[in-house]
Amino acid sequence: MADTNGIAILVPGALHAHAAKRIDERFRLIAIDKADASLVTPEIARDVRGVASMTSINAAFIDALPNLEVIAHFGVGYDSVDAAHAGRRDVMVTNTPDVLTDEVADTAVALLINTLRELPKAEAWLREGRWEREGGYRFSRGSLRGRRVGIFGMGRIGQAIARRLEGFGLPIAYHNRRQVEGVPYAYHDSLLGLAGAVDTLINVAPGGASTARAVNAEVLRALGADGVLVNIGRGSTVDQEALIAALADGTIFAAGLDVFADEPHVPEALLALENTSLLPHIGSASVATREAMADLLADNLVAWFTDGKPLTPVAET
Ligand code: DGY
Repeated sequence: MADTNGIAILVPGALHAHAAKRIDERFRLIAIDKADASLVTPEIARDVRGVASMTSINAAFIDALPNLEVIAHFGVGYDSVDAAHAGRRDVMVTNTPDVLTDEVADTAVALLINTLRELPKAEAWLREGRWEREGGYRFSRGSLRGRRVGIFGMGRIGQAIARRLEGFGLPIAYHNRRQVEGVPYAYHDSLLGLAGAVDTLINVAPGGASTARAVNAEVLRALGADGVLVNIGRGSTVDQEALIAALADGTIFAAGLDVFADEPHVPEALLALENTSLLPHIGSASVATREAMADLLADNLVAWFTDGKPLTPVAET
């Protein structure tokens, strides 16, 4: 086993405890409060060859580390890392795909059902003692039956969601940057076209400039009055103001959201709406899956520093 103990890995801000432990066992872990170039001392700048993080990494931070070789990101979505700048600087970026696919797909389906059938609201009502006092919970206006599902982003997670919903007997269509080979569902070359053909839109698209506010007022209008939006991808992909307006005036029926434009802030207007089901970005957040992500992050660093080939490099680098 190659000796990696002298290699300095910088951890800016919070990191999953198991990832930190794995890094500490194999490397010299240096922790700082946040990924801010002003916190980089001359010693850190001289020594650090790797960064492990679950926070935003911008170009100035990358440039403050002249000997940086690799950024190991915790999570499959890496829109918070300036991967394009890392690429220009010849810095490898890795993420943690695959190990979370099933967990996120399960959450997406659960969120869709919760949104339609109001299961969390019914449970809260029972816990308030209202069943005994008031009789049965009102029937949900929403149902999965007869829905036509559109998936925006047909990567690994999108495909896992589609497989699950096929099992519910629902027709599936999708929009993606390009048609995905071997995927049997109807392809739409525009998001608006997809929204016009379905009543249930599930966003799984990666965040970043190319998808920013792609789910806008026009797309929501195209979904129609029965329309449901589920967002398990990134809050930045949805025009949040347009969504709030569409939910408030009945342009669409309901929304289930695991992600928001400015996390952890959730606007009062969304909280006040009855036709929303809201989760605190927990798509992949089971103990086992988060630990598997932590292991993959650490394994990427070990693989990079022992044979120069990380297990899961991101596309840009
Ligand atoms: C991911 O892995 O991208 C999840 O959304 C957590 O950030």
